[in-house]
Amino acid sequence: MNIKILKISVPIVAVAALAYLIFSPSRYVGYSPDQPIPFNHKIHAGDNKIDCKYCHTGVENSAHATVPPSSTCMNCHGAGNVAGNQEHVKWLKAQYESNTPVSWVKVHDQPDFVYFNHSRHVQRGVDCSTCHGNMAEMVKVKQSKSLNMGFCVDCHRENNAPNDCSTCHR
Ligand code: HEC
Ligand code: HEC
Ligand code: HEC
Ligand code: HEC
Ligand code: HEC
Repeated sequence: MNIKILKISVPIVAVAALAYLIFSPSRYVGYSPDQPIPFNHKIHAGDNKIDCKYCHTGVENSAHATVPPSSTCMNCHGAGNVAGNQEHVKWLKAQYESNTPVSWVKVHDQPDFVYFNHSRHVQRGVDCSTCHGNMAEMVKVKQSKSLNMGFCVDCHRENNAPNDCSTCHR
């Protein structure tokens, strides 16, 4: 008789967490999957000082930072023909011309039962490097901070940010 009630009352987060622990892909400090073509943050954001927001347009105003579409790359590699003879640039242009989006592999990936919002942090002046390390020096993207619950909750406590469970689990 009570089974139905029991089922409903099982905290959704606990079920999701269990599924996550069993099925989660590899997400850990040092995780650095190969991409369809190597993309070098050091060349772009470091040496050439292209602003992070030029490519990650969502960081200031939305939950998701977003990864740029190839049309953004073409601002320089298309008509401007920057590095036009480089093999990966040739590949990129061919994909763009045939309307095939590049399937970038996600590196930082919170489980679905965690809610995170970029704009709330970026607008408060939290630097990208706090959570992603020094991207402008990275030749290949890798996860450099644990981004686990303790990491989030500690900083929220120190900054008097909301810290009840429903802040990050909804
Ligand atoms: C604002 C201009 C600009 C944009 C936008 C841009 N790049 Fe570049 N890219 C450069 C410059 C400058 C270089 C270095 C060229 C050189 O050293 O000859 C470069 C080099 C490259 C190279 C060659 C790297 C190597 O090892 O030699 C690749 C691949 C590349 N970019 C991919 C991309 C991709 C993918 C995007 C979009 C996500 C993109 N670029 C967007 C300016 C840009
Ligand atoms: C020219 C475009 C460009 C610029 C400028 C750029 N990025 Fe990126 N970024 C990309 C692309 C393309 C990817 C996906 C490929 C990859 O992960 O290597 C990416 C991936 C990332 C990721 C990993 C995303 C994931 O899947 O977890 C982070 C974090 C990131 N960028 C942060 C930054 C920061 C911080 C800056 C500024 C210091 C910056 N990026 C500047 C194009 C750019
Ligand atoms: C307070 C920590 C924090 C800060 C600050 C932060 N990020 Fe993130 N970022 C994350 C987390 C957590 C994820 C994974 C989100 C997910 O999987 O839902 C992420 C994911 C990303 C991604 C992958 C695409 C996406 O939207 O999920 C990119 C790109 C990225 N961040 C870029 C940036 C840039 C650029 C900045 C600075 C302007 C920045 N981040 C600041 C924590 C942060
Ligand atoms: C460097 C410190 C810092 C870290 C690390 C951090 N946060 Fe925050 N977070 C804040 C601050 C400060 C605010 C309040 C922003 C405001 O007042 O608008 C906030 C706000 C939020 C909000 C919005 C709360 C609301 O009620 O709208 C969410 C959701 C959130 N953080 C989730 C996370 C998650 C998930 C992580 C870990 C992946 C994380 N945060 C890591 C400092 C941090
Ligand atoms: C500021 C954000 C934040 C707050 C507040 C928060 N959590 Fe989490 N929680 C996370 C993140 C991020 C993860 C994912 C951890 C990982 O990837 O290992 C997580 C994971 C979990 C998990 C899965 C097991 C684990 O440790 O990975 C459980 C269960 C959980 N949280 C319960 C809670 C409860 C209960 C509360 C309130 C007392 C709470 N959380 C408050 C961010 C938060």
